[in-house]
Amino acid sequence: MCGIIGYTGAKDVSEVLLKGLARLEYRGYDSAGLAVLKDEAIRIVKKQGKLEVLAEEVKQRPIEGNTGIGHTRWATHGEPSDLNAHPHNDHTEDVAIAHNGIIENYKQLKEQLGENGHIFKSETDSEVIAHLIASEYQGDLRLAVAEAAKRLKGSFAIAAIHKKEPDRIIGIRKDSPLILGLGEEENFIASDIPAVLEHTKEVVYLENNEMVDIKKGKYTVYDEFGSQVEKISTKIEWDIKQAEKTGFKHFMLKEIFEQPEVLKQMFQKRIKNDTEVVFDELIISEDVFKKIENVIIVACGTAYHAGLTGRYMIEKYARIPVSVDTSSEFRYRDPLVDKNTLVIVISQSGETADTLAALREAKTKGAKVLAICNVLGASIARESDGVIYTHAGPEIAVASTKAYTAQLGIMYLFTHYLTKVRGKADNCPPDFLKELSQVPKLAKRMLKQYRRNENKMKGYAANFHKYYLARNNKSCFLYLGRNINYPNALEGALKLKEISYISAEGYPAGEMKHGPIALIDENPWVVCLAVKGDTYEKMLSNIQEIRARGGIIVAIVSERDSTLKGKEANYVIEIPETEEIFSPILVAIPLQLLAYHVAAEFGYDIDKPRNLAKSVTVE
Ligand code: AGP
Repeated sequence: MCGIIGYTGAKDVSEVLLKGLARLEYRGYDSAGLAVLKDEAIRIVKKQGKLEVLAEEVKQRPIEGNTGIGHTRWATHGEPSDLNAHPHNDHTEDVAIAHNGIIENYKQLKEQLGENGHIFKSETDSEVIAHLIASEYQGDLRLAVAEAAKRLKGSFAIAAIHKKEPDRIIGIRKDSPLILGLGEEENFIASDIPAVLEHTKEVVYLENNEMVDIKKGKYTVYDEFGSQVEKISTKIEWDIKQAEKTGFKHFMLKEIFEQPEVLKQMFQKRIKNDTEVVFDELIISEDVFKKIENVIIVACGTAYHAGLTGRYMIEKYARIPVSVDTSSEFRYRDPLVDKNTLVIVISQSGETADTLAALREAKTKGAKVLAICNVLGASIARESDGVIYTHAGPEIAVASTKAYTAQLGIMYLFTHYLTKVRGKADNCPPDFLKELSQVPKLAKRMLKQYRRNENKMKGYAANFHKYYLARNNKSCFLYLGRNINYPNALEGALKLKEISYISAEGYPAGEMKHGPIALIDENPWVVCLAVKGDTYEKMLSNIQEIRARGGIIVAIVSERDSTLKGKEANYVIEIPETEEIFSPILVAIPLQLLAYHVAAEFGYDIDKPRNLAKSVTVE
C-alpha cells in the first residue's frame, strides 16, 4: 500500500506535495519522492527513509514549480532505497509516474521494453509504467496512459506527468484507490482524502478503470472506453485525523477491519488452482526443506503466538518436530541447532533486536533461517536465508492485529508448501487450500455482523469497566484455550494487557486445575475459547468448573452453538463455523475487538499505549 499525490495550480507544488505525503504516511513510509514539472523539464527528488529525509533534501535544494506528483512508499518489489523510491521516470526523462499497487506482468513488459532500448534503473515493478507510457506517447499523455494501462496486469493507481505538457496530470486506477480534490483554479489527485483535506473538502471518487485528466482550472473523467463521464463531487465532513483512519476512531480498529482484505489478497496471490502454494520471493531451495529434521520457530510477543499456532499446523501435517521459543530466551540458552534445523523467525517490523540476534545465533550454529516479515527489506528479512512477506501493509497501531492474522495465514500456506515439498501432500486434506481461502470471507461476514451489533461488545466492555471500578480496580482476566487455539488465549491476554493495562493471563484450559483455578472467586473474568473441535467437550467442563466457583465467563463459540447461551456463559461471542484447524484467524478477531473496547472504556491511548513501541529495536 503506498500513498500518491498530484497537484497543479498556483501554489508552490513542493510544499503542497510534502504536506500531502505527510498525511499519507500511514499508507507507507519506507521511502518518498517528488517529481516537479517546470519549463519542459521534470525534476525528481526521492529518498529512502522517512518523509523528513526528503523534506530536508528539498529544503536544502528547493524545487520551483506549480505542477507535480509525489509518492510515499510501502515496498512490495525492490527493497527500500533512493533508486527504488517513486516517482519513476523513463530513461529519456520525458515521463514521470507515481504508482500504488502491484504490476503482476512487469517482468515480461520490462523484457519487451528492454529489447526496444529502454534502460531500467530500479528493481521495482512500478518503473515499467513510466517506460510503457513513454513508449506509447504520440503527443497526448492521456492517450498514452490509456494505451499503457491496457497492457498492465495487476492493481494500480497511477499519477503521470509529461515534460511537454505543462500544468497537466493524468490519473488512472484499477483496484487501488484514487480520488480528485477540487479547488479554485487548482486541482489535486491522491490515494486518499487526508492528502487534500487541508486545501479542499470537495472530492470526486474515481471508480475502477476510470481515468482523470486534470489541469489548473478543470478536470475531465473518462471511462475505460475513453468516453467522458460526468462525476458528482462529495463534500467531506471528516477532520484530518479521522480521515487518516478512513473514518475509524483508531488505527487499531481500522487495521482490525483490514484483515479480511489482507488475507483475501494473500490467498489470491499465493494459492494456485486450490492445489499449490507459491512463494515468489522465497530463495531457499526445496532441497533444503526436504532435508530438514526439525523446526524451531523464534519470535516475540504476538509474533511468538503466531509461531505457537504454526507449530500445531506443521506438526499435524508435515510431521516434523517443531519447538517454539521467544527470541530473548532462544538467543541465550545455547540452543541445540545444526544444519538439519530450520529456524523460522517471525517479525512484523523485521527490526526486533531480540529476534535479529536470535537469527544470527541460529546462523552461526549452521541452521537455515526463514523469515516471515511484513516490512520489505527489513534487517531480519535481509539477514535471513529466505523470506516470506505477509504484505499486510503498514501496521500503525502498536497492538498488532492484521500482521498477526497475516502471519497465521502464511503459516497455513507454508505448512501446505512444506508438506508437499516433502512428498507428504496427502497429509493435508484435499480441500485444505480451498477451505483456507474461505476464511477471509467468513472474517468479513463476522466483522459485518459485529458492525451491525457493535453495542454488544461495547456493552461487555462497559460491564467489565463498571465491575472493575466497583471492586476498587481489582479484577483480572483469564483467557483459556485448548489445542490450536491455546496460543490465541495468550494473544487475547496480550492484546488486553498492552492497551488497557489490566492484568490478564492466557492459559491452556487443561492447566486450570493445576493452580490457576485458585484464582476463581467472584473476581476474574474468564474468556473461554470454546469453538467446536476435538477438545470442545473438555472446554465445556472447564467452564462449568469456573462457573461453580463464581467466575464470569465470556465464551467465544461457533455460530449457532447455543450450548452456553444463557447458561454457563455470562457473555457469548459467536464466530463463523469452520474446521477447528482454520478457527484461529476467526477467534483472534473478537479477542482484538474485546481488548479494543475495554481499553476504549478506560479512555486510554489505544494506538500508542504507555511504555510500548511499535518496533522494539533494543534488547
Ligand atoms: C504485539 O501487539 C506487540 N506490539 C508486540 O508483542 C510485538 O508483537 C512484538 O514486539 C514483536 O514485534 P515484531 O513482530 O515487529 O517483531
